[in-house]
Amino acid sequence: MHSIEEIRELFTAYLNQESFQSEPQNLYEPNNYFLQIGGKRLRPCLLILATEIFCGKTEDALSAALAIEYFHNFTLIHDDVMDKAPMRRGFTTIHEKYNLNTAILSGDVLMIKACEYLAKVNPIYFKTIFDIYTKTAIEVCEGQQYDMDFETQQIVSHSDYIEMIRLKTAVLLAAAMKIGAILGHAKQEDAELLYSYAENLGIAFQIQDDILDCYGDENLVGKQVGGDIIQNKKTLLLIHALEAEKVIESNVLENVLKTTHTHNREKVEAVLAVFTQHQTKEFAIQKRDYYVQQSILALEKINLQESEKQVLFKLVDYLVMRTY
Ligand code: IPE
Ligand code: IPE
Ligand code: MG
Ligand code: MG
Ligand code: MG
Repeated sequence: MHSIEEIRELFTAYLNQESFQSEPQNLYEPNNYFLQIGGKRLRPCLLILATEIFCGKTEDALSAALAIEYFHNFTLIHDDVMDKAPMRRGFTTIHEKYNLNTAILSGDVLMIKACEYLAKVNPIYFKTIFDIYTKTAIEVCEGQQYDMDFETQQIVSHSDYIEMIRLKTAVLLAAAMKIGAILGHAKQEDAELLYSYAENLGIAFQIQDDILDCYGDENLVGKQVGGDIIQNKKTLLLIHALEAEKVIESNVLENVLKTTHTHNREKVEAVLAVFTQHQTKEFAIQKRDYYVQQSILALEKINLQESEKQVLFKLVDYLVMRTY
């Protein structure tokens, strides 16, 4: 079995080898740009790791891994439009560097490329895998819609937030691992448990993403820190602080959100001050760690050797306790 670093290297080599056609340049060049500026490649690595953990062949997992990475990159290109994000992976986002139409169409073609590569999997498993993929892709769109709806929704409950991030983020990580397990000939029951492990880890991953959006180092995160605050995103942090303000009958935060600021920095600093007052970051860390615990509970039930479980156990640090 390869280490996660080795998997990333061999996946990157495969991704580079499967380059896009050159024409029309204005369609494919932006995608080349986006895929070459980096990214952690988490989902394809998880998929391949899952195949290997069940003793499947790495080569059998590569095309599905690329399909998932293409789909993920498609979601990011469109997400940056929806979130008005200027920066991704330390570089200018597609809609800013090129234009909106380019972001739409280059994103679309990536999503279709994902299907093309998914169709290269072992035909025995194609139908099962394709069904997981389409279900997941629809769920991601649903999660993204809730994410946008919540921007203007005054009250968002914790469970609505968790369901939103489960859909927009966790299910893709979970599907990647389940597809990998299936390609590794895992038993249905183990593939389901792996899904549950990765789904909980995915929820923790998105809570960490929300924390980094407020407290991360922009040079490491590669995204505009404070972007969620600027967009009034109902992250767990904002939801917690709004609730805490209600308890003490304060409307400082509500007013900050309502006011149009000439400088985004002022808004971000004002919101962060309220977060500090209510120990909002600590609350988010606690919630994040709860979902890490849930993922470990699922992991313990998987029918694998202890040494293999350890590999999955170590992924927790890699995925959640990250600074970028
Ligand atoms: C970003 O995912 C989108 C979220 C679900 C938070 P990643 O943090 O995996 O993005 P890249 O691919 O490494 O840039
Ligand atoms: C993105 O959530 C989830 C998807 C792209 C589906 P975010 O909007 O928080 O992701 P980042 O922070 O832009 O990477
Ligand atoms: Mg975003
Ligand atoms: Mg978003
Ligand atoms: Mg984010």
